[in-house]
Amino acid sequence: MHTVIINRLNIRPMALSDVADITQIEQKSTPHPWRKSQFIDSCEKHHGLTLTLDDHVIGYTIYNIVVNEAEILNIAIHPEHQNKGYGRYLLEHLIAIISENAQRFFLEVRVNNASAIYLYENIGFVEVCQRKNYYQTALTSEDALLMAMEL
Ligand SMILES: CC(C)(COP(=O)(O)OP(=O)(O)OC[C@H]1O[C@@H](n2cnc3c(N)ncnc32)[C@H](O)[C@@H]1OP(=O)(O)O)[C@@H](O)C(=O)NCCC(=O)NCCS
Repeated sequence: MHTVIINRLNIRPMALSDVADITQIEQKSTPHPWRKSQFIDSCEKHHGLTLTLDDHVIGYTIYNIVVNEAEILNIAIHPEHQNKGYGRYLLEHLIAIISENAQRFFLEVRVNNASAIYLYENIGFVEVCQRKNYYQTALTSEDALLMAMEL
């Protein structure tokens, strides 16, 4: 990514004051959005990172570390800012942070989420197995891929 852009980006621990922006991005970017209350809970129970461009929130990730295993619970970039390298930038930053404390990194992704799967494979995740009907709503269900990466 161009240095000029990198200088305008910032990654910081997620704060409760980010939750309104993050909830909006979530609703615009995924068919199975988390509720606002889940992000509020995550500020207490999990770890979160907020990505800003010129001080505007454009992305986030929520993750957990248990013993020496880490898991991404959520990651998204605002639709207007996707495909510009920000997802990769955030994920590489997260991997650098968790590599200090974890040896293995897991995530689940919808089987039809081609752009996310491409990014994860490109960064070094491999498919472990499929989980049937992992994402469910009242009307639909979708399988998930469990992916993992050795750190
Ligand atoms: C998945 C997501 C976080 C990726 O963030 P992003 O900023 O759009 O991704 P990047 O621009 O960093 O792209 C990363 C790579 O994926 C590639 N890519 C992006 N969309 C793609 C697509 N539809 N098909 C193939 N490759 C694609 C890019 O070319 C890039 O590859 P490169 O680094 O080799 O050039 C973002 O698309 C998103 O928020 N999606 C909605 C929420 C979501 O699905 N989250 C994941 C839940 S598991």
